Amino acid sequence: MGNVGCPLNELLLNELRFWLRIMKEHALFIRLGLPCNETRLIQMAQDFESRFAELEEKSKAVSPGRGLDQLANDSLKAVLEFIQYKTLVLDRIIECRMGGANYPLLIDHIRREAIRFAINIIRFRRGELMTPTEELIQNEVFWLRIMADHAKFIAHLLDPSERKFVCQAEMFSDTFDNLRCQSEDFESMLEITPRPIPSLLRFTAEVKEAGTEIRNFKAAATQLLTNCKILSLIPPLLADHVRREAEKFLMDLDRDLRMLKQMPAPSAPPCATSPPVLENTGDVSQEESLKKSDNTGLHEKEQGTETLSPTDAEQTTESFAETGGSKTFAESSAEISETVAEKLKEDFAAPLQPIYRPKKTFFTGNTTQVKINFK
Ligand SMILES: [Fe+2]
Repeated sequence: MGNVGCPLNELLLNELRFWLRIMKEHALFIRLGLPCNETRLIQMAQDFESRFAELEEKSKAVSPGRGLDQLANDSLKAVLEFIQYKTLVLDRIIECRMGGANYPLLIDHIRREAIRFAINIIRFRRGELMTPTEELIQNEVFWLRIMADHAKFIAHLLDPSERKFVCQAEMFSDTFDNLRCQSEDFESMLEITPRPIPSLLRFTAEVKEAGTEIRNFKAAATQLLTNCKILSLIPPLLADHVRREAEKFLMDLDRDLRMLKQMPAPSAPPCATSPPVLENTGDVSQEESLKKSDNTGLHEKEQGTETLSPTDAEQTTESFAETGGSKTFAESSAEISETVAEKLKEDFAAPLQPIYRPKKTFFTGNTTQVKINFK
């Protein structure tokens, strides 16, 4: 990773700075929920907390050109061990071999986050990026489940007498469960030829809106907890922890939408072997299929550094719908056919963007296999 100015290094450093603090706090939360007789597990949690605190401090001094490789290596090693530790704790809880106050879903949740962190270190170091559409969908699938879990934890850790807040948290839980299901539907529908179809962009605007609402809810809850104005079992640090994750969710979405805006030309479906030849038959379905394969509507917008607001996404969606212009099909079919032919030639001359296909399992280097569960 010698390329100091590489945006992937910036991305990697941001991930490290964010997740190292999160990992440190996970170790603390696990420790607080362990039964007091589990002294060995408590000590291990304490060790992880100190280890991640040290790495977090180092991440503040590191820059893409200085010490990033070493920090990434050390962080990956620590997080792989932490995944094993979380797995051990989870297995004991779900087999009723250990009590305590850690919900099984909480341990599963923080293990998923650790796995995502490990995978991002690996793929950013290898330069394995997905296409912008795939990045967007994968981020939505991951974060929507995380947000739904947070809402459930809040609902179950508030004092039952706090009816209004419990009810609000349950509503967030339903909202994010539904959004998550829909994101998985998009993931399935667009698996073969990922592309930013208008309905995905409309859906993303809805996701951003819901993400902003839950972020504000968590910020308000953090404030109330800090000022002792609400009854619950939630430590203020946990409320702030989930608020920061909501911020990260929104930042990841903004980054994905920026990447989509800057995306060069759309890629052709991988199964095409020759350019489609259009005959002037007036067949509407041919025209529609051309529109689908040409998502140039995205590039009509100026490339800016500003993030996309829901309104921007709606406008982008509209520009998709307008693709096709004012020419009649008969007038433009020959012209389009030529453009498509050239486009396909270009696309197949150069390899497509490297696509990262998340692996379901990977090895920690010894004999212990870490199972990866993305969803
Ligand atoms: Fe979380």
